[in-house]
Amino acid sequence: MRIAFISSEVHPFSKSGGLADVASSLPIALAAMGHEVVVVSPWYKTLKNIVPYYLWDIAAPRLSTPMGVSDKLEHGVRWVFVGGSLFDRDDYYGYSDDVYRFAQFCLAVPHVLHGLHFFPDAYHLNDWQTGLIAPLLKYGDVPDAQRRHSVLSIHNLAFHGRWNLEDVRSWTGLSDWTDGLEYNGDANCLKAGIAYSDVISTVSPRYAWEITTAEGGFGLDGVLRSRGVTGILNGIDTNYWNPSSDKHISQQFSDFKGKEKARVALCQELNLDPNRPTLAMVSRLSEQKGLSIMFGALEEMARDWNIVVLGSGDTGAEQGLRWFMETRPNIHFSSGFNEPFAHRIYAGADAFLMPSLFEPCGLSQMISMRYGTLPIARAVGGLLDTVPESRGYPFWEYSSRALANTASYARSQWRTPAWEAKVLEAMQTNFSWDNAAQQYLQLYGA
Ligand code: ADP
Ligand code: GLC
Repeated sequence: MRIAFISSEVHPFSKSGGLADVASSLPIALAAMGHEVVVVSPWYKTLKNIVPYYLWDIAAPRLSTPMGVSDKLEHGVRWVFVGGSLFDRDDYYGYSDDVYRFAQFCLAVPHVLHGLHFFPDAYHLNDWQTGLIAPLLKYGDVPDAQRRHSVLSIHNLAFHGRWNLEDVRSWTGLSDWTDGLEYNGDANCLKAGIAYSDVISTVSPRYAWEITTAEGGFGLDGVLRSRGVTGILNGIDTNYWNPSSDKHISQQFSDFKGKEKARVALCQELNLDPNRPTLAMVSRLSEQKGLSIMFGALEEMARDWNIVVLGSGDTGAEQGLRWFMETRPNIHFSSGFNEPFAHRIYAGADAFLMPSLFEPCGLSQMISMRYGTLPIARAVGGLLDTVPESRGYPFWEYSSRALANTASYARSQWRTPAWEAKVLEAMQTNFSWDNAAQQYLQLYGA
């Protein structure tokens, strides 16, 4: 099949979270199965020195800002980047004109693919940033050869991409009978994707159910119930996230003895006592990730564990973590996004903290398990689907008490045969894309 995979971020070119991992590892898995895959993503400043800014201009009706294209062939996939001043900025998102930026991106994509003579059998869209492509493929000013089957994957229902309805209609040319675009008087890019894609999926079976309930639906549960959502559990790139060949860690390992060396190396790097177990978190610092219950349990958890946090986001959370680090010798906090350090943490920690309020899938817990690091995770969304008792420590209630109790129970099992049995199962579990890629092919209509 020919598949066009459209994403607002893609590792290793741009990454703020798990979407970037999915946007590279799933296309690579599909290409390895013999399919022709083109990934289209914006050219951000992070691509400087990796991919040329501009190779040729995009000719697309309605584009109101000049944009260009460059591309790269790697791992059997063609990576195509849509560039221009709208994306040549320090951050990926967080600007007041984000909806305009991604509306321009969506307008460009079908024309870019047409210009490359790539006629996909299916478009795979991801999250609100690409949602407008669905109505554009049906009703927009796009070449007929590009009016193809579309699948929208929801990676996070919390972000909708809302803006003034009239503005979005005038930018895109979508007329007022495309009422699937409208939500409480505004344009809602995610809702447009849900309303006009042929198929809707999300990244775990449990989250597929949660988002059709009023509690987890972020106001879109009604439209999701009426359209239907398929849950397909994400995989991870098991070649890239591989403790026995990871080039970011100095102590590669595949057994307990090797893991112990990586553990001691992390403690030495951070000046922590290696006789204590280490509980780590690598995360965007946002309420989704369970920060409020994490802060409420931190003091108590720090009595039993070394605590290591790598993350960035919420400034209040960063300040709080800095304060804890200054007042406790066994708490380490690093602010920022640091891929090599994240690998050393996954390899060197004993347990991984993921007390999420909600979690569409979560890749970090799968990565940590692959490195023999047991998740202490709230049983919600994809965490419920991936962290059973046999390879981690799930807990149900969203409270600091439940988290602290679970962490204390995990601490009591550290280095016992029960702990080691979990580590063994975690490291042997197959988290590859093989199964999920097959399921996506069915959604593409193969
Ligand atoms: P989300 O997509 O909600 O952020 P996931 O668990 O799906 O959560 O994916 C997070 C991805 O981002 C993982 O690959 C994780 O290692 C990475 N990550 C998150 N924060 C950081 C950070 N500060 N530095 C390096 N990698 C990070
Ligand atoms: C989102 C979700 C996360 C998921 C990732 C990749 O960022 O928050 O749970 O794993 O997308 O699908």
